[in-house]
Amino acid sequence: MYVSLTVSATLRRRVLSWYGRSGRDLPWRRTRDPYRVLVSEVMLQQTQVSRVLPAYRRFLRRFPTLRALSRAPLGKVLREWSGLGYNRRARDLHRVARTHASGLPRTVAGLDALPGVGAYTASAVACFAFGEPTAFADTNIRRVLGRAVLGHTATDQEAIELDRVIGSKREGARWHHALMDIGATICLTRRPRCDVCPVRGVCEYDGVDRSSRRKQSPFVASDRRVRGAIMRQLVSSSRGVTMATLRRGINDPRVARLVGVLAQEGLVEVSSGSVRLPTR
Ligand code: ADE
Repeated sequence: MYVSLTVSATLRRRVLSWYGRSGRDLPWRRTRDPYRVLVSEVMLQQTQVSRVLPAYRRFLRRFPTLRALSRAPLGKVLREWSGLGYNRRARDLHRVARTHASGLPRTVAGLDALPGVGAYTASAVACFAFGEPTAFADTNIRRVLGRAVLGHTATDQEAIELDRVIGSKREGARWHHALMDIGATICLTRRPRCDVCPVRGVCEYDGVDRSSRRKQSPFVASDRRVRGAIMRQLVSSSRGVTMATLRRGINDPRVARLVGVLAQEGLVEVSSGSVRLPTR
């Protein structure tokens, strides 16, 4: 992908200088501990910063190191995770701790091979914790870079390519943090605040973005809500509950099937008619 050197240098300079003035001060940006960075990235997958902040602090007070996390039973970890949703993320993090209690891999490929860690998270950890000059994009970065250069939100592949061409190699962490912040506070999906945007004047976006208008099917959120309700009931009962109690409390025909799915995923244990959080 071709981007003129002048445009690319201007974007880089404006974005980095904006970050110095207006970037968000977030606790996971003050550390280079790979475990802490990983915990933050896993929590930030699909959960808003404002909800992650208290959860991040509480989780790390409880499990300050990979070793500490590896020693905890999964049930305890899931309890600490409650409120964040997407409990498979906690299970995967716990699995990572059990297999890598003495330290995480330091390369993108090594990180990518961990359970629950995809290409994005592997690159983000390599960049933020190890200072690797790697290109990656989350949804905010796709929107900011895509709109600025292509005039519309970029696909994942396009955004990574743009990031590789334009991004700062020397200041990779600040560069990516800045794009995330511009995406979260200025380059908003529906009502972008172009009047205060640092790349105003070099941006290709004209205020209409078709690629970000897709809607999620309502069924996706719906199974997830029932799974969340099941997990919440189990979190608040130490000895487990009967299937009948669960069904009465949640009153949804999917409870039985979803308990089966959760059991298969290792998020709950079912024995002699009772369902509970894993004890090992
Ligand atoms: N800082 C580092 N990673 C982040 C993310 N995924 N979202 C917001 N801020 C971050």
